[in-house]
Amino acid sequence: MKKILFKIAGKSIPIIIGDGICSKASISKYIDYKDVAIITNTKIAKLHLKNLEKYLKGFNVKVLILPDGEKYKNISSLNKVHDFLIKNKFNRNLTIIALGGGVIGDLAGFASDTFLRGVNLIHIPTTLLAQVDSSIGGKTGVNHKYGKNLIGSFKHPMAIFIDTSYLKTLPQKEYISGLSEVVKYGAIGNKVFLKWLNKNSKLILARDSGSLIKLITNSVKAKVSVVQKDEKESNIRAHLNFGHTLGHAIESSLNYKGISHGEAVSIGMLFASAISVEKSDLKIDEFNLIENTLANFSLPVRIPSSITCAKILQNMAYDKKNKQGKINFVLLTSIGSCGLNDHISDRYILGLLKTFQS
Ligand SMILES: NC(=O)c1ccc[n+]([C@@H]2O[C@H](COP(=O)([O-])OP(=O)(O)OC[C@H]3O[C@@H](n4cnc5c(N)ncnc54)[C@H](O)[C@@H]3O)[C@@H](O)[C@H]2O)c1
Ligand SMILES: [Zn+2]
Repeated sequence: MKKILFKIAGKSIPIIIGDGICSKASISKYIDYKDVAIITNTKIAKLHLKNLEKYLKGFNVKVLILPDGEKYKNISSLNKVHDFLIKNKFNRNLTIIALGGGVIGDLAGFASDTFLRGVNLIHIPTTLLAQVDSSIGGKTGVNHKYGKNLIGSFKHPMAIFIDTSYLKTLPQKEYISGLSEVVKYGAIGNKVFLKWLNKNSKLILARDSGSLIKLITNSVKAKVSVVQKDEKESNIRAHLNFGHTLGHAIESSLNYKGISHGEAVSIGMLFASAISVEKSDLKIDEFNLIENTLANFSLPVRIPSSITCAKILQNMAYDKKNKQGKINFVLLTSIGSCGLNDHISDRYILGLLKTFQS
């Protein structure tokens, strides 16, 4: 078992990582009173709810099971959560447990921040993406019909339990999608880690227990270190958007269908790396290391032919993270070091996009 302390907003949040670390003793330590509401979805409930309920014997536990899917990460589901909490007459002594991937984590996290102006929250992330990314850093929220994650807040939990045993039931496509964010941490902050990922890709793809703990621990440390320095994304937290400028544009061009977030980010990372070679001194062998690592994980690096480059460019310009209409890229100066650049011309981007089409 590993424990990382995430020091943020005057709090010290334990992030506990290990195989089978969820237990009665470990979880109950972070629940102040008797009342507990578990928020999860149909798929995860079938696989993992019984065990969690066992660990919570002795508490007054109520469970809300939502339908599965990103399309339910909306205000209407948030209303359902609030209705459920109010009908159960919970008060401010409540602890909400988010049991699920990023969708449940973001939604239940936002509900915990808005119900009675804030009750306690515990994250139990069950996808690799949620374990290395979405459960850490406090961003919560729901989608709006005009865009993703447009309604939300910053809310940190009492504790985060990263139990790798949950990953045993995760479909391979979801697992590989999470690996994309792991490669990102290596590319932007840690060359030794990226080389290790590259060398050990077979073990990692086979979800070898020791490799999993190592890759999650390194990723969590990377995210914690960035967010501790810049919680509200006024500067270096934006580095975590490496690969996301193009990634988000691909996802929205495809209406979030047929490609996972991690797959879109993988294409975006190689694209940003290609710009980095030409505009910010990234060496070609470093570019090759990134490409090779993504390929080892069977992550895509070419833009699907069903989208036009003009559409992608248009969607990049709409990205909510842009300032004054300029397209922002996170570029690498070398592996492990990066910065923001909003001086890349549309003409140059369009030309490069064409070379990335499959
Ligand atoms: N808050 C943040 O900082 C942040 C960061 C990145 C992403 N996100 C958000 O995270 C969401 C994506 O998260 P995700 O990739 O975890 O998707 P997800 O929550 O939809 O989970 C993916 C699929 O895996 C299933 N699943 C989850 N755990 C499982 C398990 N252990 N076994 C079997 N199936 C399981 C889910 O039911 C779902 O079908 C997006 O909404 C994104 O906006 C938030
Ligand atoms: Zn991402």
